[in-house]
Amino acid sequence: MNKYKEYFPLLKEQQNIAYLDNAATTQKPLCVIETVRDYYEHKNANPLRGLYALSQAATDTYEEARQKIATFIGAAKASEIIYTRNASESLNLLGYSLSELALKEGDEILISIMEHHSNMLPWQQAAAHKKAKLVYLYPDKNGYITLEECRKKITPRTKILSLTQVSNVLGTEQDLKNIIALAHEHNIIVSVDGAQGIPHLPVNVQELDCDFYSFSGHKIYGPMGIGILYGKEKYLEKMPPFLTGGEMIDFVDEQSATYAELPYKFEAGTQNVAGAAGLAAAIDFVKEIGYDTIATREKMLGVKLGKALRALPYVTLYGDDDLEKHHGVFSFNIEGIHPHDVSSLMDEGDVAIRGGHHCAQPLMRYLGCGFCCRASIAFYNDEADIEKFIERIKYIKEYFYGK
Ligand code: ALA
Repeated sequence: MNKYKEYFPLLKEQQNIAYLDNAATTQKPLCVIETVRDYYEHKNANPLRGLYALSQAATDTYEEARQKIATFIGAAKASEIIYTRNASESLNLLGYSLSELALKEGDEILISIMEHHSNMLPWQQAAAHKKAKLVYLYPDKNGYITLEECRKKITPRTKILSLTQVSNVLGTEQDLKNIIALAHEHNIIVSVDGAQGIPHLPVNVQELDCDFYSFSGHKIYGPMGIGILYGKEKYLEKMPPFLTGGEMIDFVDEQSATYAELPYKFEAGTQNVAGAAGLAAAIDFVKEIGYDTIATREKMLGVKLGKALRALPYVTLYGDDDLEKHHGVFSFNIEGIHPHDVSSLMDEGDVAIRGGHHCAQPLMRYLGCGFCCRASIAFYNDEADIEKFIERIKYIKEYFYGK
């Protein structure tokens, strides 16, 4: 077992498994598991409410984690960090609250055909509610949205652009800095879906100058059930709340209410403090491993996997021709074999990959395949995992078609 797997109890316990579904969720290091446990064992109380020491400890845990996350992504203030359940919830918050602020009938929302359903359906809903139009950007043959494509689709009615940082199917990283600058020249508010970005790339929201950035904790070695929405204060201040209820208010009357200051206006009900603490521990873990190590290992393993797939004439590989630019994501099809059959037979050989539409049905249709298999790498994978996967591909081909 390589030294990186040592951090992960599940990978230590189940050494037979080649876990290659990291874009769906990553495994959790012991420090994250222990932090969650420590919270419930030693600090558990409802934060922000109780005027007693234990509740204060919970509040401190919750707010220290928020500060750590703000620093990690380069936010100007901790109050620009909103806790959600996951990137989907962050994007739903925007689909509702930002569209209330920024959209009028006839306005346009720009997204790409590469979006995960989480960055598509909230905008479909927003367009329907506000009688706005949802306009699509299409990638070039390698999976990138060009500035030229953006220029073609931007009109005076374009008010919001919401774009993925890294595609969950193609693994391509978009030229966000230039796209955001172009959008801002046209006074367009920009949201970035970073769910598949931040696990692989250091993010600085002020350098990117995005107006919003969403991600999930569980894809960056943190717990499930905790996500982040970063937003510039100037927009968050003016946006109406998304979920309403406990602790997000200032004053409540029989017929109306005023709302708490940021970030609490967007955090209704009892919050996931253990999740926030676990995400903060995951961030410390990523800093300890280092993005350089993460990128170097994911590239090295990705090139090995991609080259081996390309060498098989019956496999179609999607995404950039340059295998170093996949951010660990390799989507493919084996000629004539359904991805569900491929994943099931992979599982029989202790290889975990994902097969299906990857919550990106319009992209699947655009690629002309409908569904595909996806192997996705994290830094803790190793050459043995890749070899096991490739051997299994050859076995599956023979299983269906003989030698
Ligand atoms: N969004 C995750 C994926 O792409 C679940 O697999």
